[in-house]
Amino acid sequence: MYYPEEIVEEVRTRNDIVDVISGYVKLQKKGSNYFGLCPFHNEKSPSFSVSPQKQMYYCFGCGAGGNVITFVMEYENYTFPEALKVLADRAGVKLPEVEYSREERAKADKRSTLLEINKLAANYFYYQLHQPQGRIGYDYFKGRELSDETIRRFGLGFANKTSSDLYQYLRSKDYGDEILKETGLVTMEERGTYDKFWNRVIFPIMDVNNRVIGFGGRVMGDGTPKYLNSPETMIFDKSRNLYGLNYARTSRENYILACEGYMDVIAMHQAGFTNAVASLGTAFTSQHASLLKRYTDTVILTYDSDGAGVKAALRAIPILKEVGISTRVLNLKPYKDPDEFIKNLGPEAFKERISQAQNSFLFEIDVMKRDYDLNDPEQKTRFHNAAARKLLEFSEPMERDNYIRAVAQAQFLPYEDLKRLVNHLGNQLGGRPLPAEREPEYKEREARKKKEKDDGIKRSQRLLLTWLIEKPELFDKIKGVVGPEDFKEPLYHQVAQMVFAGHEAGNLNPAGILNHFINDEEQYKEVAALFNADLKESLNNEEQKKAFAETVFRVRRHSLDEASRTAADISQLQAIIREQAALKTMKITID
Ligand code: GTP
Ligand code: MN
Repeated sequence: MYYPEEIVEEVRTRNDIVDVISGYVKLQKKGSNYFGLCPFHNEKSPSFSVSPQKQMYYCFGCGAGGNVITFVMEYENYTFPEALKVLADRAGVKLPEVEYSREERAKADKRSTLLEINKLAANYFYYQLHQPQGRIGYDYFKGRELSDETIRRFGLGFANKTSSDLYQYLRSKDYGDEILKETGLVTMEERGTYDKFWNRVIFPIMDVNNRVIGFGGRVMGDGTPKYLNSPETMIFDKSRNLYGLNYARTSRENYILACEGYMDVIAMHQAGFTNAVASLGTAFTSQHASLLKRYTDTVILTYDSDGAGVKAALRAIPILKEVGISTRVLNLKPYKDPDEFIKNLGPEAFKERISQAQNSFLFEIDVMKRDYDLNDPEQKTRFHNAAARKLLEFSEPMERDNYIRAVAQAQFLPYEDLKRLVNHLGNQLGGRPLPAEREPEYKEREARKKKEKDDGIKRSQRLLLTWLIEKPELFDKIKGVVGPEDFKEPLYHQVAQMVFAGHEAGNLNPAGILNHFINDEEQYKEVAALFNADLKESLNNEEQKKAFAETVFRVRRHSLDEASRTAADISQLQAIIREQAALKTMKITID
């Protein structure tokens, strides 16, 4: 950590967690906590909780948790110093200036160095585009009807034919080979070091915070590969970023247009559709879907109209559905992609196509239909059966009925007949035993059971810590029964010590304790879980008291069992046995 602990604590305490998170997530008060839809995984009902008392957030669905600083780190994909800076500014806290040499800084924060280099490279490419040697790139963009404003907005550039000029340029800025290698901008071989991109127009790839995290480059002429992308680096994860999202996320439309290519995104934005994004030369992933879910509930696919585009759309639809996004599919015919469509028919016609975009389920049925020759009665019947079977995907009767109606209408089938067919198939499938992949399923379940047992004791320890934090008056009840020494696992032990010490000193502060672990994502998540065990608030008081006492005893009993196993000699063992016996007669009363 580069900042003194007091400063970090000050920034944290001056930013109320409910205030900050409310800026990102819609929260609703429920009891003493706030709840909302978790921004870190996909869900339809809220399991993301924010506690004003603890100044922590915790998701009971995915286990994401932490304090206000880690929230900003995770949500914005910021490093610790970046998040601290944002929160300090927000609360009007002045952070002390820290001067580092370039070398020291590189060591302290490689990520920001990589971002810094990418920014320099993007500027360099942009500059080259406007030089005589970049003329061919500039003319290329002009040939594709991009305005200077669009070129500027997307920071488009050019990598010329010289084989290592970018490398020389970055070296002249005092960056060493080691870090340059990690940018993916150069390839180092025995013969020498070369620029990865040359003779290509360049598309800088920005994350949602407008930071350049990688590059795409399109070859001039017919070389291969047509498009070349930066390799994945410490700061560039293709499956978690979407080209154009930095602009699309601020668009006022309530849907997002997803397409396949850089040029498609740019053409759409230039035509006024600033809500267009593309995945980066990779298939659409569920991380992409989660990312989009933060900004919208509706995606319109504008994939290429060729076979590959249809396939890609069919893949993306269930992925989007999984996260609760409803998808529609735009018909680009007779053109290949949005870029060509807009060039030929203009923005108005494109807008029209947006309004006509087809419900993704009906699109799937249409694509399915292509496999059948509907002039042949047997094939036609098969198609009807296949459509009916697909309709069984909807388990909700009302929803299913809506779709039966829609499919009937779209395929010119009598509604009643289709409905009967769907129900008939449903009954058939319902009566049959489930598909037989039992073996792996069974093994999985057994493994899960065992792990659950192992986790049981840890869960008790988490329950106990959470209880103590939420109801500090309980410390008195457990005095002499359990203490920090009963938490054996190193991380649990460390945290328990801080909790008990905090209580002793009269400043028990879970979100502050979390600061000690902020540099290790795995650790702070685990610590957050320690303070957010599910206390089942629905239990009535009597049950709660009993559950609390049981938890205390379980933790202590386990601790004694462990101790008896590692006892150094007989007298120690005897002492442990005496304590075990005493524990059996002990009572904890809470009133
Ligand atoms: P042009 O209009 O010819 O520039 O291309 P396009 O926008 O029509 O792109 P195309 O449909 O050929 O490809 C769509 C997207 O797929 C591109 O924007 C790239 O992200 C990616 N892509 C295309 N060709 C390649 C390739 O050879 N390698 C890689 N890695 N990605 C590619
Ligand atoms: Mn194209």
